[in-house]
Amino acid sequence: MKILAIESSCDETAVAVVENGRTVHCDCIASQVALHRLYGGVVPEIASRKHMEAIYALADEALAKAKITRKEIDAVAVTYAPGLIGALLVGVNFAKGAALSLGVPLIPVHHIRGHIAANYIAYPDLEPPFLCLVLSGGHTLLADVRSYTDFAILGTTRDDAAGECFDKVARVLGMPYPGGPAMDKNASGGDPDRYILPQPHMTGNPLDVSFSGLKTASINLIHNAEQKGETLDVPSLCASFTKAVTQMLVPRTMQALAQTGYQKLAVAGGVAANSHIRAELEAECQKVGAALYLPPLSLCGDNAAMIGAQAYYEYLAGNVADQTLNACATMPIDTLTYD
Ligand code: KG4
Ligand code: ZN
Repeated sequence: MKILAIESSCDETAVAVVENGRTVHCDCIASQVALHRLYGGVVPEIASRKHMEAIYALADEALAKAKITRKEIDAVAVTYAPGLIGALLVGVNFAKGAALSLGVPLIPVHHIRGHIAANYIAYPDLEPPFLCLVLSGGHTLLADVRSYTDFAILGTTRDDAAGECFDKVARVLGMPYPGGPAMDKNASGGDPDRYILPQPHMTGNPLDVSFSGLKTASINLIHNAEQKGETLDVPSLCASFTKAVTQMLVPRTMQALAQTGYQKLAVAGGVAANSHIRAELEAECQKVGAALYLPPLSLCGDNAAMIGAQAYYEYLAGNVADQTLNACATMPIDTLTYD
């Protein structure tokens, strides 16, 4: 089954053709990142306009690259939630039109489910159940992937997502948007014990995480140094910050893995590209003999191949939509609605 997949939830317009959830015939991305960088973050209105400008040509380019004709497309899939509402609507309306004109089913895909499915492309043998640590720009959660379409949230952030935190601290340090990659690079040259940053004491679900205190403490530290005219050791601050994020995430992930009894841990989302988090997870999984699934960097960030992969399994589960499909800015991963 060949699925034409559309992604437009944030600042990347993406179109892919994916067969049977695993074989990627093409994965085209038109990134708007350089434009949003001028403003230090994503400007939603600009994002919607740029998606509109890019999507038709990108879909043609994707079919040409895949050497697949419109008639060979068996279904159209689209990210319909969560994300920037105006941006999502561009993809949803394009997908509706495409499905209608091609006379094929329309498959709505939850963006975070798509991030998890990036692992199915990278690892053709990976099948649920497994635990997935999801680290995207807007979401941080530990998901029990019970089947391709049945998820349980074991832990989540009480406030900011890890990605948001990387980006905010990087912005205050004067690094270009999105700051995660620059923080990662800088951290490699720094001393992770140079700055002491707080770890919150949390009650309630022991698998929940919190990043806003760490973000505020890091930003205050930068501002205080500026006010006192002190020179910051930027690589060491990046390293100390990354260490604090890693200490928040990795022990809880290993605890969740032990709790589920699974021997398989996957990681997903843009922050899954972080080399320090990847290394720590590798070391911990090795200690307990668990298999670790780390998508290549190209599949960590937003793309449409991951949407096409998840769409196949949503289709098999009967999760298709009609022309009343609407986009939705927020939506939990475990309970989907379509209008
Ligand atoms: O999953 P994603 O592409 O978009 C969303 O669905 O939100 O994630 C983007 C996030 C940004 O916050 C970006 O700074 C972060 O992923 N990111 C990283 C790295 N590469 C991207 N964060 C830390 N280290 C990295 N190497
Ligand atoms: Zn994403």
